[in-house]
Amino acid sequence: MRRFNIRTVTRASVILAGTAALAYQSNRFKSNNIQNTVLPLFHAEEKEFKKTQPTVYTGNHQQCVVAVIHLKSKNINDVKQVLASTRKVPDIVKKVLPEGDTNTPEDEFELPTVMAGVGFSVNLWKELAKSNKLTLPEGIVGYKERKSNLGGMPSAENWQIVLHVKGSTRSQCYEVVQGLVDQLPENVIEKVEDRYGWQYRDGRDLSGFLDGTENPSTPEERIDAAVTSTGGSFLIHQVWEHDLKALKKIGHKEQEGLVGRSKDWSNEMNEKEMPLHSHVRRMRDVQFKRMPIVRQSMPFGSVGGKSGLLFIAYSKDAKTFDVMLDRMVGVDGHTDGLLKFSKNVFGNYYYVPGEDELNNLYRKI
Ligand code: HEM
Repeated sequence: MRRFNIRTVTRASVILAGTAALAYQSNRFKSNNIQNTVLPLFHAEEKEFKKTQPTVYTGNHQQCVVAVIHLKSKNINDVKQVLASTRKVPDIVKKVLPEGDTNTPEDEFELPTVMAGVGFSVNLWKELAKSNKLTLPEGIVGYKERKSNLGGMPSAENWQIVLHVKGSTRSQCYEVVQGLVDQLPENVIEKVEDRYGWQYRDGRDLSGFLDGTENPSTPEERIDAAVTSTGGSFLIHQVWEHDLKALKKIGHKEQEGLVGRSKDWSNEMNEKEMPLHSHVRRMRDVQFKRMPIVRQSMPFGSVGGKSGLLFIAYSKDAKTFDVMLDRMVGVDGHTDGLLKFSKNVFGNYYYVPGEDELNNLYRKI
């Protein structure tokens, strides 16, 4: 069992800060740190929150995997067989947990070393809702193909089931995916794409920028941003391949302009100086207001092969992702600078049902 003390981290940061300027930097660093190492949990009285699958509201472990299971056909009877397998995920996780570890943590200081959440591509969830008379969640929209002058985002038409696993070791992540895949009926599966992510340095993207600085960090902020009234959440998963050689050829200042933050401490440029194409500006609305989502992205890949970012984020409203992606591809004429060195090769939206919704579905199949 991993033990974290979120309050100690906070107190230490405040003492360390001393001056207002330092407090600001420390705070930026702290919020990133929390996203990447601490798993905030609500206490028992937060009943609504407890019904959410834990991968949605917790921070990152050291390792993760997103396994996308592509179904061969769009036949609802085939899906039922796959659903019966996903039902076993909690037992699979239990087997992987070290002795004495629990997957029902009571508070934020005692958390399991591995956890998993199951989701359904939005087009599949719509079909499941229709055939099982389930109410569709508000804010549901499908993922669509996008184009821009710097490269596009391909669509994903087939039905998919997703498994998001967070663990202390890669072995744990692998074992959970393997445990599920072993149960799947081969005849209905087209392919399984499991991509493994890992924490790089102190929570940075492979480009060297801190990732997650402006992420909601308290449990209250996370639930507010990510959880629907029924305990569900929308997950966006995209795979971005970086061209790090090309990135290294441009200067430090230009790189910072692409992001809108400094590379060392992730200090935000002021609004007047921040270029129109910078990622941070693109990810805000037209009034430069934040649109909170819970990001849990992690780098992937190898030095000799492909590498980049497994973009993973949760929101209570999939339309927020739509606004962000439209702004990235430049619906208003300004394409996100990140697209100059990052290529999107995969993406989709998934609905990660609340635990009651999931059990309700399992009862019906
Ligand atoms: C190549 C892929 C991407 C990279 C390397 C990347 C990296 C970053 C970095 C370095 C930051 C600044 C620090 C921070 O606040 O985390 C950031 C901010 C952010 N990113 Fe990304 N990101 C990528 C894709 C995306 C996508 C696809 C979305 C949304 C669908 C997104 C949403 C955001 C948001 C909401 C922020 C915070 C903006 C704010 O300050 O209000 N990012 N990202």
